[in-house]
Amino acid sequence: MAISIKNICCIGAGYVGGPSMTVMADRCPEITFNVVDKNIKRIESWNTSDLNNLPIYEPGLSLLINKCRNKNLYFSNEIEKNISSADMIFISVNTPTKKTGLGAGQAIDLKWIESCARQIAMHAKGHTIVVEKSTLPVKTAQAIKSILDGHTKKDSKNLDSDNKTFSILSNPEFLAEGTAIDDLLSPDRILIGGDDNNSIELLKNIYLKWVDGGKILTTDIWSSELSKLIANAFLAQRISSINSISALCESTEANIIDVAKAVGMDSRIGKNFLNSGPGFGGSCFKKDILNLVYICNYYGLNEVADYWEKVITINNWQQNRIVSIVVNKLYGTISGKKIAILGFAFKANTNDTRESPAINICRQLLEEGCTLNIYDPKVKKEQIDSDLRDENYSYLNKSDKEKTWKVSSSIIDAVKETDALIILTDWSEFNNLDFQKINKFMRPPCWIFDTRNIININKAKKYGFNIWKIGNGNL
Ligand code: UDX
Ligand code: ADP
Repeated sequence: MAISIKNICCIGAGYVGGPSMTVMADRCPEITFNVVDKNIKRIESWNTSDLNNLPIYEPGLSLLINKCRNKNLYFSNEIEKNISSADMIFISVNTPTKKTGLGAGQAIDLKWIESCARQIAMHAKGHTIVVEKSTLPVKTAQAIKSILDGHTKKDSKNLDSDNKTFSILSNPEFLAEGTAIDDLLSPDRILIGGDDNNSIELLKNIYLKWVDGGKILTTDIWSSELSKLIANAFLAQRISSINSISALCESTEANIIDVAKAVGMDSRIGKNFLNSGPGFGGSCFKKDILNLVYICNYYGLNEVADYWEKVITINNWQQNRIVSIVVNKLYGTISGKKIAILGFAFKANTNDTRESPAINICRQLLEEGCTLNIYDPKVKKEQIDSDLRDENYSYLNKSDKEKTWKVSSSIIDAVKETDALIILTDWSEFNNLDFQKINKFMRPPCWIFDTRNIININKAKKYGFNIWKIGNGNL
């Protein structure tokens, strides 16, 4: 049994695996970290000398990559070799919602996790600690364990068996994109679930290099898995709660910013996560709630499932109602009109567009017959094109020449000859728009729809803009 960890392998070089291992490598120079992925292009991008072109954008990440890469942090496609030499393996692969079959639309598709477990079972040597880092449904560790145990038993019948053994830990990641490096360096808590005390201690010792021991919580494996799901469900619930009230503020003469401030000053409630907006996006919230709903229904807790499902209902409703407001303000039709979209990522400081509200809102606007100029400081054109395209709808399934949206290279490029601009992501460069300049490029009635509550109304009004701001009943 290992007495200290010298070699760590992380399977999955995505938004979780990449930043988590980079921060660990920075804090633990005596350990070698091999981040492996089956995606050849992704690994090439992690190894690029152009640090502005890493596969994911995350403030502070490129500095750490520059410091650790090829010293004690390596990115490669050599999955088998790095599994074999690892004392500890983190599983950070994607866990999307199932598209077909049993539990379609709600349960997590575990095929990537399963294939990882099989690769580990085949190639691991000696004793290996397997740590699940992806957000996983409760009891996934059990599935991983049974795959690993199955192989161990089978191998033990072979004469060349090398007596491989495994212990499994759950160590959920709580980082938020856009602040991942800070979140990893100063976490609120580290959660380690498992039943093998030796393995728990070994993982804990790694975190103790930079995290206060009082913040490291150990639980049984099921509680750890469930806690991650519930933390995300509670956060998403707060957003749906404040978004539902944003609509009430608009219908009355209240202002959601003041209401959120007053409510959040109650120390029992707290001020974070009370910004109303176009709804939550990102790879976790929707997926985790759907998964929670699935699990509740599975255990016959139908009322509990219905309660949590409403968080998603409100999220969709918020996006739909923003589209209706835009159409209504533009005299009931946007057919033939041109609209600028500022921001496509699901939040600021990331190039990630998974579940971004912008996708649903843009698709609905396109369905209404307008054309869109879309600008985002970090999302690439190919990503926007692939997010919007859908072969089931003719208006979304057009060639580059025929499509009714264009990806713009700057704010000014985006607003040219448009009737309206819609702010969808809270990028800081949208906080101080040059209204005087923008106004010259737009066409009357020059509407601004601010779904993130970031623009200064008085300044914008001075230059003759019509303004709608989320949750503001006093315009
Ligand atoms: C989330 C959790 O915060 C993190 O702990 C978990 O590990 C992964 O899921 P992430 O999805 O990266 O992180 O970002 P987060 O900051 O939580 O934002 C999610 C969505 O909620 C974004 O679309 C954001 O714009 C929206 N949001 C957040 C609001 O609309 N209002 C808020 O007040 C906060
Ligand atoms: P997350 O946000 O959870 O990090 P991503 O989709 O950004 O999700 O990253 C997951 C990564 O895991 C992808 O780059 C994918 O290619 C990789 N991956 C999935 N399954 C395997 C596997 N069996 N072996 C190696 N890499 C895998």
